[in-house]
Amino acid sequence: MLKNIKTASWFIKNPQYIPQIFQILKRKSNSALENSGIEAVNWCKENCMDQEEALQRMVNTSKPTNLADLYPNEIKQAQMTAQNCPVKMGGEGAITFIYHLVKNSNAKKIIETGVAYGWSSLAILLAIKDDEGACLISNDMPYIKMNNDDYVGCIIPENLKFKWELQRLPDVKGIPLALKKLNNSIDFCHYDSDKSYTGRMWASPLLWKALKKGGLFVADDINDNLAFRHFCESVYRTPVIIEHLGKYVGVVVK
Ligand SMILES: C[S@@+](CC[C@H](N)C(=O)[O-])C[C@H]1O[C@@H](n2cnc3c(N)ncnc32)[C@H](O)[C@@H]1O
Repeated sequence: MLKNIKTASWFIKNPQYIPQIFQILKRKSNSALENSGIEAVNWCKENCMDQEEALQRMVNTSKPTNLADLYPNEIKQAQMTAQNCPVKMGGEGAITFIYHLVKNSNAKKIIETGVAYGWSSLAILLAIKDDEGACLISNDMPYIKMNNDDYVGCIIPENLKFKWELQRLPDVKGIPLALKKLNNSIDFCHYDSDKSYTGRMWASPLLWKALKKGGLFVADDINDNLAFRHFCESVYRTPVIIEHLGKYVGVVVK
């Protein structure tokens, strides 16, 4: 009861995030699929390959250099900023993998959902920093009741921000807005925000529709439930899946 009151008062203080309440309520009608993590993990295990093979297949890159070796100062600085951050958020994901996918697919118009410290944003911005026509729109709503608003994207250095726009909205509002800004035509999408079955099944088709032919759709933590598998089946695609620190990342080409 007290927990519900605290959640309600957080939404009242942060009314821009209220549309997310309706998404959360919708999860109740999907409870079996929301709890399909065990099947999803088994599917990921059966279908995954190592990062090198995945990058070879997707963007014809062999022997990808670690991002920390390519940009040691930027990564060290980001790790220090994250360590000193007073609010603890999610750790760094498959940043080397994301960097090489973006860099070698020559993606220009990029959308990302879910920022937290900004590890995937940093990987994408490093990949596009010298590409004049490229930009990244990231969308994020902070963790409910965690008071982390001021620290979202805190590891992004000032010199990379000229290519970046950070929208602070729930996906239901932020994804359509970002797509509109990019004329409903994108080259690359990294999905790492609402991991629920309901959230993914709402957002994935919308992002897919705007993705250009040959564009890449990357989704993190696809082991959480069967949404990514069901989405791939709905668009008749076989994904490339990699394992990273016990979790799985999936990529599909349009
Ligand atoms: C796993 S973290 C993102 C990590 C980030 N991609 C990285 O590599 O550092 C997920 C982020 O998505 C945000 N998020 C969760 N649900 C969301 C929603 N419905 N709309 C927008 N952001 C959401 C969380 O608050 C959090 O900041």
